[in-house]
Amino acid sequence: MANDKNKQSLLQKENQRSSFSGKLGYVLAVAGSAVGLGNIWRFPYLAAKYGGGIFLLVYLILMLTFGYALIVSETALGRMTKRSPVGAFGIFGKGVPYLLGGWINAVIPMLIVPYYSVIGGWVVKYLFEYLQGNTAVLAEDNYFSGFIANSVQAELWFLLFGLIVIIVLFAGVKQGVERVAKVMMPLLVILAVFVAVYSVTRPGAWEGVKYFLIPNFDNFSWMTVVAAMGQMFYSLSIAMGILYTYGSYINKDVDIENSTKQVEIFDTAIAMLAGLMIIPAVFAFSGGDPDTLKAGPSLMFITIPKVFASMGFGTGAGILFFLLVLLAALTSAISLAESGVSTFEDQFGLSRHKSALLMGAVIVIFGSASALGFGVLDFISLLGMSVLDIFDFLTNSLMMPLAALSTCILVTRVVGLDKITKEIEQSSRFKRKKMYCIFMRYLAPVCIVIILFSSIANVMGWIAM
Ligand code: TRP
Repeated sequence: MANDKNKQSLLQKENQRSSFSGKLGYVLAVAGSAVGLGNIWRFPYLAAKYGGGIFLLVYLILMLTFGYALIVSETALGRMTKRSPVGAFGIFGKGVPYLLGGWINAVIPMLIVPYYSVIGGWVVKYLFEYLQGNTAVLAEDNYFSGFIANSVQAELWFLLFGLIVIIVLFAGVKQGVERVAKVMMPLLVILAVFVAVYSVTRPGAWEGVKYFLIPNFDNFSWMTVVAAMGQMFYSLSIAMGILYTYGSYINKDVDIENSTKQVEIFDTAIAMLAGLMIIPAVFAFSGGDPDTLKAGPSLMFITIPKVFASMGFGTGAGILFFLLVLLAALTSAISLAESGVSTFEDQFGLSRHKSALLMGAVIVIFGSASALGFGVLDFISLLGMSVLDIFDFLTNSLMMPLAALSTCILVTRVVGLDKITKEIEQSSRFKRKKMYCIFMRYLAPVCIVIILFSSIANVMGWIAM
């Protein structure tokens, strides 16, 4: 009897331990895929461009409602079906709508990773220049625009980053890279805090802090909402089927609600830190120049070098910063490409090497177009967007809302909210169930349709936003 009890408590302990490490492992994996260039490069430039505090407010609201509901749905669908998106949609039905729903989720990462690698290439270039001590040169006005307009340079640095990604996929050393990156991430956070404090305390920077943190409704436009929604998908790695795949790996003991909350907090904290590093620096070094604020994808590469050039140990800080950002970018690019590779393997029955080659070709072709879009291909533009911006807009503002819509429809019309909430309740009491159901059923689809329509209307020039 006593023996039995002992055994039982031992078992319980074991269960608790394994479930704890399972949960923590899951949160770390998702957080690891969430933190990347999206937080450090993309969030600050969008916040600067689309109204500062008002962008931040819209972003936070969307993340806590919409983002939350979608992460929970995707993870639960993955855990329920044990499949990635194309397979998961296929389980619930055959026919064109299911194929479209699955494939739109699966194609998005393949379109993101090429231009992601272009930005990755910029990071490698800056790391290289800091290693040579060219700290002052990098901070010169127009240095960055000169660099990306030089087609040979832009293409070569992109190819270097793209090649690293492809080689890692080929060699199957993804886990190794991820382990290194995970150890380095806390270092990135510490360095970011340090740089943010330095930025915020520069003379004139306070205006920037206010611009970033205090919502000003005069700066609101529909594009604020479109951009914030796209950024939310991008930064949290949702609306592209990734979380179906992650969800398919977890057990019933992982509390989906709680882990979602932790990932959101972590991801947003890092994005806000990056905002505090970069936006106040724009005000300190360029007096809040509207042109710089609207610099778009180049903002990080214009502002951060000015910060480093003005401080002691700037070269060391530059090396460390770009090295850490490079690691974060590499792990994200590898996971994005990996998702493409496994789609090719599963759906076309290709071998791993053939799939990796195919993914490599996609990266080189679309990535080159994006890299050259500031140089020899600069005649291609849509609404003032370069090729890179077009890819970014296409995936984040058009395709991801459609992917999110397909998940909403799958959950509410096909699987049923009942079944999904039961899946979530297997691991915990579903505290925000009411909000979740209302959101999935009404608010999310309506918001998506309005936003999609307005961004298309904007591109077509029917309305000015
Ligand atoms: N969230 C990542 C970032 O902020 C980018 C990203 C989107 C990603 N989808 C992903 C990374 C899937 C890994 C896997 O940069």
